[in-house]
Amino acid sequence: MRKKLVAGNWKMHGGLQANSALLDRIVESLPSLACDVLVCVPFPYLFQVAERLAGSRLALGAQNVSEHAAGAFTGEVSAPMLAELGCSFVIVGHSERRALYGEGDLLVAAKCKAVLAAGMWPVLCVGETLAEREAGETLAVVARQLRAVIDCVGVASFSRMVVAYEPVWAIGTGMTASPVQAEVVHAAIRRQFAELDSVVAEGLRILYGGSVKPQNAMELFAQPNIDGGLIGGAALVADDFLAICHAAN
Ligand code: 13P
Repeated sequence: MRKKLVAGNWKMHGGLQANSALLDRIVESLPSLACDVLVCVPFPYLFQVAERLAGSRLALGAQNVSEHAAGAFTGEVSAPMLAELGCSFVIVGHSERRALYGEGDLLVAAKCKAVLAAGMWPVLCVGETLAEREAGETLAVVARQLRAVIDCVGVASFSRMVVAYEPVWAIGTGMTASPVQAEVVHAAIRRQFAELDSVVAEGLRILYGGSVKPQNAMELFAQPNIDGGLIGGAALVADDFLAICHAAN
């Protein structure tokens, strides 16, 4: 039985005061939550959030990472730096990074490798655009995105990874994939792993992301292959984020 994981992706939002208030609410609610909970915050707030979370079971993650461990890469942040600051997860290959910053499958794979080498868990994001869905390419696109990473890090590494299926057309749009639409893709992802390693496939947590709200979370999380959520907008509102966590209980 896979334990549900609810992960907040704050994206480029936050502020010292607002973070503090949001974290207070989440930390005080942790005892009532059965799921694992993670917050992925902007780089400048990692230190603040790490201090606030110390001793709690709320996990800390980053939203991006360099594929290099160190060196002359102005403006980049390495995986060992994130690990030292207390991160245990890093989002890799978010569709916003793929679409807006030109990250391709090979770079995403290299970043996953860097995260694993630093002892953290990649949260590998995959998902199709609306045009790809309408062309009937959803499963092929997702399989290709996964294959690039499997080829680079090996299937066994996925025992220390999380996959997030985030259809691009559902992110920030209010257009959630229906539970059935999402489950079809989640089941296909698990089949892809099952063909390579049945134990890894069975243990792999596959999160759904894209306009998850308190109103739709429970039905999504009830699907057999949906093991939690990667939450954007609703992760910034304490009541909404906590309601989503409760839906995973
Ligand atoms: P929204 O929940 O705002 O649609 O964002 C989803 C997402 O991209 C999480 O990584």
